[in-house]
Amino acid sequence: MLDQLGQLEKEALAALETVEDTEGMNAWNRRYLGKKGALPPLLRSVRELPKEERPAFGQAANEVKTHLETALEARAEALRQQEIQRDLEREALDVTLPGRPIGPGHLHITTKTLRQIYAIFAEMGFQVYESPDVETDEMNFELLNMPPHHPARDMWDTFWISDELLLRTHTSPGQIRVMREYCPEPIRVILPGKCYRYEQITARSEHQFYQVEGLAVGHGITMADLVSTLTEFARRFYGPERQVRIRGSYFPFTEPSIEVDMDCILCAGQGCRVCRYSGWLEIAGAGMVHPVVLANGGYDPDEWSGFAFGPGVERPAMLKYGIDDIRLFYSNDLRFLRQF
Ligand code: FA5
Repeated sequence: MLDQLGQLEKEALAALETVEDTEGMNAWNRRYLGKKGALPPLLRSVRELPKEERPAFGQAANEVKTHLETALEARAEALRQQEIQRDLEREALDVTLPGRPIGPGHLHITTKTLRQIYAIFAEMGFQVYESPDVETDEMNFELLNMPPHHPARDMWDTFWISDELLLRTHTSPGQIRVMREYCPEPIRVILPGKCYRYEQITARSEHQFYQVEGLAVGHGITMADLVSTLTEFARRFYGPERQVRIRGSYFPFTEPSIEVDMDCILCAGQGCRVCRYSGWLEIAGAGMVHPVVLANGGYDPDEWSGFAFGPGVERPAMLKYGIDDIRLFYSNDLRFLRQF
């Protein structure tokens, strides 16, 4: 029987060497050590031996059992190590590989348009002044001659942050900030920035868009200065052949107020979705700075006068480049963005 035991041990150890995975190990365990395996009946057969042989056989059988269990554990560990090694090799990073090149980007069409606008106004002596995107109700409305509950507030659907704070609906609050900073000096600035409106998004309206406010404050400034400045801007931006139309309008912070339109380049004035079939596209609201606003900025309206205007940026760019949907600007489609 001792021979049988030795034979079994040899066979089991040889079989273990060929085991390559967990499944094989489980099968091996069932075959030799499991309840229905080869070793337990041998262990039980100790009872059939003469009494004096039993201790030696029992001891030998237990040693074989322990030996096989230890061998199984060692094999399991070896396989685990092999597995780790394989994973490491598979996932190894070749740090000597050259990186994937990142193509050079370029400026967004809005940024390019803003820079063109800055350049044109710079030539006319306007400096850039930046004011905050998060504004107070006071700056965005009250000091622009729109006290609480003034119906004109409805012209700007507003994203409110609290009862006092909001996302600016236009760049006009910058007028108050710049006047208060520069008073009593004359002023000639443009105020570029993002505006936010709680508006339906359509082919010509976004809920975030840019405006470039313009403000001039001085002695003897008249509507003629305003109209000529905007006409000059339109001709430099779109080309000398462009048509400009001035209409009477209403803004609480200018008096009188006007609306400046351009002929629609997309449809050559025939009417299309973008110009709402009118042949004209509104590019800026404007007017002479209201005396109340001049006073709120610190200037005596009896001595000082000024003009202000507030064109968008995307709509003029749409006209200039023949873009028929404003939603393309910020939908991150590279096929669109790469064209500019
Ligand atoms: C204003 O916001 C006034 N603050 C302009 C102004 C300034 C008047 C100074 C007088 C003196 P309006 O709401 O019309 O006006 O907007 C001005 C321009 O912003 C529009 O002509 C248009 O080009 C652009 N704009 C307005 N709403 C949107 C929108 N939802 N999406 C894209 N552009 C817009």
